[in-house]
Amino acid sequence: MSGIQNAIISSVKTTLGWVPDRWLSSGPDPLIGRTAAIGRQDVRVDGPAKVSGEARFAAEIAMDRLSYASVVHSTVARGRITRLDTVAAEAAPGVGLVMTYRNMPRIGTLDLIGVTNLSAIGNSSLPIMQDADVRYDGQIVAVVIAESQQQADHAASLIEIDYTRGAARTSFEAAKTDARTPASILIEKNHEKKGNAEDVLKRSTHRVDARYTTPTLNHNALELHAVTVAWQDDALLVHDSTQMIAASAQALARLFGLKKEQVRVLSPFVGGGFGGKGLWDHQIVAIAASRLAGRPVRLVLSREGVYRSVGGRSPSEQRVAIGADADGRFTALIHTGYTVMPPYAACPEQFSFAGRVLYGARSWEFLQRHLDLDVVPNTFMRAPGEAIGTFALESAIDELAHDMGIDPIDLRRRNEPDRHPVNGSAFSQRALVKAYCDGAARFGWEKRLATPGARRDGEWRLGMGCATGTYPYTRMPGATVGLTLRRDGSVTISCSAQDMGMGTATAQIQHAADRLGVPTEAVSFELGDSAMPPAPFAGGSGQTASILSAVIAAAEKLAGTLLRLAGNDSPVAGLRTGEIRLVDRGIACNADLSRHESYRSILARAGRDAITVTASGNLPIEMLKYAMHSTSAVFCAVRVSEVTGEIRVDRMLGSFDCGTILNPKTAASQFKGGMIMGLGLALTEETLVDARTGRIMNATLADYHIPTHLDVPDIEVMWTGIPDPRSPLGVRGIGEIGVTGVAAAIANAVFNATGKRVRDLPITLDKLL
Ligand code: MOS
Repeated sequence: MSGIQNAIISSVKTTLGWVPDRWLSSGPDPLIGRTAAIGRQDVRVDGPAKVSGEARFAAEIAMDRLSYASVVHSTVARGRITRLDTVAAEAAPGVGLVMTYRNMPRIGTLDLIGVTNLSAIGNSSLPIMQDADVRYDGQIVAVVIAESQQQADHAASLIEIDYTRGAARTSFEAAKTDARTPASILIEKNHEKKGNAEDVLKRSTHRVDARYTTPTLNHNALELHAVTVAWQDDALLVHDSTQMIAASAQALARLFGLKKEQVRVLSPFVGGGFGGKGLWDHQIVAIAASRLAGRPVRLVLSREGVYRSVGGRSPSEQRVAIGADADGRFTALIHTGYTVMPPYAACPEQFSFAGRVLYGARSWEFLQRHLDLDVVPNTFMRAPGEAIGTFALESAIDELAHDMGIDPIDLRRRNEPDRHPVNGSAFSQRALVKAYCDGAARFGWEKRLATPGARRDGEWRLGMGCATGTYPYTRMPGATVGLTLRRDGSVTISCSAQDMGMGTATAQIQHAADRLGVPTEAVSFELGDSAMPPAPFAGGSGQTASILSAVIAAAEKLAGTLLRLAGNDSPVAGLRTGEIRLVDRGIACNADLSRHESYRSILARAGRDAITVTASGNLPIEMLKYAMHSTSAVFCAVRVSEVTGEIRVDRMLGSFDCGTILNPKTAASQFKGGMIMGLGLALTEETLVDARTGRIMNATLADYHIPTHLDVPDIEVMWTGIPDPRSPLGVRGIGEIGVTGVAAAIANAVFNATGKRVRDLPITLDKLL
């Protein structure tokens, strides 16, 4: 969720009013450079539970008197229900309840993703089954509750609905005539302009000016969206698969008129999210149906149900124009275009953000227009904006490099800015050029021939391509942890964090162990329950840094408490928190490490079995002063069959500059997973929306093509590992950057192989014949 960065900066400014300079100049985290567990390839602490099947996911929670839900999706894009016949469904075997807008309890609506209130997150602000209006094809219009899933599905098929059809807007092309131009995009100024880039472009010695398109895409978490809910008196228990536990609990309390303490959301295991596992209609109708039916309900969306009622990535049409002088310095950079964003959706798909930070041009223009289509509200999908923005931008750079006869890496190097080009802030740290050098050497970039089609192997034409990826740093305010230190030296940290498969607990344990001076075996990390201290959502690649800051605050608080307990008889007596460090399972004097007392000894003398502290991370003021962005250099080698147009990716390499890497094993997995998603974006994935009706035509993974093992080559990842001196422990987030840059690297390699420039994703074989 890029763009969250701007929202946080704005909210912090609002909260603080003004920020004294001394707050902004805090130096690097003192733990950097003296770590033991951090940087180690620890295995996932949740691994055994997952591979043994012991882990219980949301659709596997057993409950007494559990019933099963099936949903009915609308078949018109815009209209009104005129007839609703549920008689046959109600009479079908095993049916306990049929719920439609007629009997659904009245509830409020969700806020769109808060720019003013970051903790309230909805993915749609439309009313949920509150009236006869239908706003998009696929909207949930009825729910059946029955004794078994089969009975519920059968009864749902018996419901008859007639609609009046309104004039639905379902064509991207047609909507362009009355596109909206928002003043800001996730707080950032939309129309960003320096000089007259159009004029400069016309006068430039070299120029490229091209149009790129990307399709609608869907998240395909392997675990389908699922929820098991129960009401116990007036308390609501929700087992969900979500990346926003605390925010969901808060939103549900508001929707159903409950107090915060009456709602508990549990989500200890999540089988993938990618931005799609937020609060959508299906959880809310399941909760309402459970209340009406007076029994627990399980609702699992089908794959088709996910496509049709959980929004994915907005389609786009982008123009990138670049002018350059004879030395290859950019004189003009223009990145404009359209995405679909109905007013009830939350994500503007900010494709123009990458260009604002990657290159220093002499003039520029960035502008996005929004199309209001009657479609399921699009939402955040792994690196929203940058994933598709870097496809257009980095393809255009490659086009220009080819026209000018300059190596594309060299062209990028000539335009590497030394400050944030648009706002002039200093980069907290940026080593993109190093990432390129290291990556090019490892990949063997020097073997590339600049002339397209120059290398072949039988019927295959071979090519290499590269592109830049980028993603902003984000740290969210409000992350809170509870930390308990026991006399036996064990530590438990808890907060309502999410793990969608990233290894959240493992990385946090490594950090906490080093921060507290204990071995990782002594630390456990509990997450996945809204009853725990609140964590921010897992998004914007910002969860790790956000929780790190809370753990740092908790460690400081613990140190203060321990010093007080230690009293006058301790080797560390008289020291203040600034003069000590936590090391060797105890407290030591910074200036003289032999002055040390163990936790065990301090607690024993004080007659305490355990100490518990709760602390929140400080405000992310580093984001106010510095331009904080990760970057990457992506390389790939492809082969394209001359006979069939078939494209095979032979190799991919990602060279990342993302700050400190906490755990090389889990980090590599994040990078590679992101790159595989980039491969899908480049070559295989497409949500097919019928432009006449607004109907999403994909129904299963057989017709939405995510890359399979056979499509995915060996992927190498490497990183600079340079800590960001402005962030907790030097980290900068790694969840989303992997997907950025990849589609362009592949498109550029396809051009190098064939001489054909494909500007419309996905690059399917028909486009190469
Ligand atoms: Mo993400 S798109 O911030 O899960």
